[in-house]
Amino acid sequence: MKSITVTSPASVSNLCCGFDILGMALKEPFDTIQLLASDEPGIRIQHTDPFDLPSDPEKNIAGVALQSMMNALNYKAGFDVIMHKQIKPGSGIGSSAASAAGIVVAANELLGRPFSKKELVAFAMDGEMLASGSKHADNLAPCIYGGLVLVRDTATLDIVGISTPPLYITVIHPQIEIKTSYAREILPKEIPLKSAVVQWANVAGLVTGFLKADYSLIGRSLEDVIIEPVRSKLIPGFHEVKGKCKEAGALGGGISGSGPSLFMLSESASTASDVEAVMKTVYTRLGIAFKTYVTTIHEKGVEVIEII
Ligand code: HSE
Repeated sequence: MKSITVTSPASVSNLCCGFDILGMALKEPFDTIQLLASDEPGIRIQHTDPFDLPSDPEKNIAGVALQSMMNALNYKAGFDVIMHKQIKPGSGIGSSAASAAGIVVAANELLGRPFSKKELVAFAMDGEMLASGSKHADNLAPCIYGGLVLVRDTATLDIVGISTPPLYITVIHPQIEIKTSYAREILPKEIPLKSAVVQWANVAGLVTGFLKADYSLIGRSLEDVIIEPVRSKLIPGFHEVKGKCKEAGALGGGISGSGPSLFMLSESASTASDVEAVMKTVYTRLGIAFKTYVTTIHEKGVEVIEII
């Protein structure tokens, strides 16, 4: 086997109340990554997308994640990487995670699967660290495991899949960039116990809602009293969009990851389309360019599409 091509999905992390611990992979959008084994040592990266990302493997998220895996194997040969990203960096839908997860899954397949999914998450986290300045796996784990996951413990990578009833996800990506590192810097270092209690209750409610297919409980639990009040100030139109989407029938939603994308969950495809129309109307009036997606949960995560 000499070359492998994978798709690597966007993801919505946090899911409002589950900061750094909950995330789900999406069917759309996704990146495409081709990895070619080479006798020439080192990593060479080429981007065929318009995002002007560094090709230097030490400054490229995929390069750092792949190098981390190569170090663990004491791998002496090299790789050529061709990346075609559709997930815009700084969008809040897991662009860096898609790069890091996609490359390590691809390399693992090409090398005969020497590593477990958990080990792949650990390598990919080294890439994610470059993007956000912190190690968290709430976008990476759903990319690698697929579906909706809980990262119960980041240090030991205790990752738990959570089943869900059918859900439709509407995402709007206002074309402004918010760097994850900045969106993390501005967060409070300490929180009142009263807020923590509300947040814990919502995380428990949300997970229970997914497992019991209780849409009403899912909707009631999609609330964030800690992160959203701070980060929503960075997103024009946030409160108006959230309110109007719920009026249009969305179960609930909020900031996707560290923003600026917003996501809403709906019980039916038609409601998810109504929600999309509401989002478009608000951002058109605000004069902010945007992209929208109406999609579902990707149960597989990174997928091999070609092996030569
Ligand atoms: N959980 C992370 C955050 C996701 O909200 O900062 C972004 O990488």
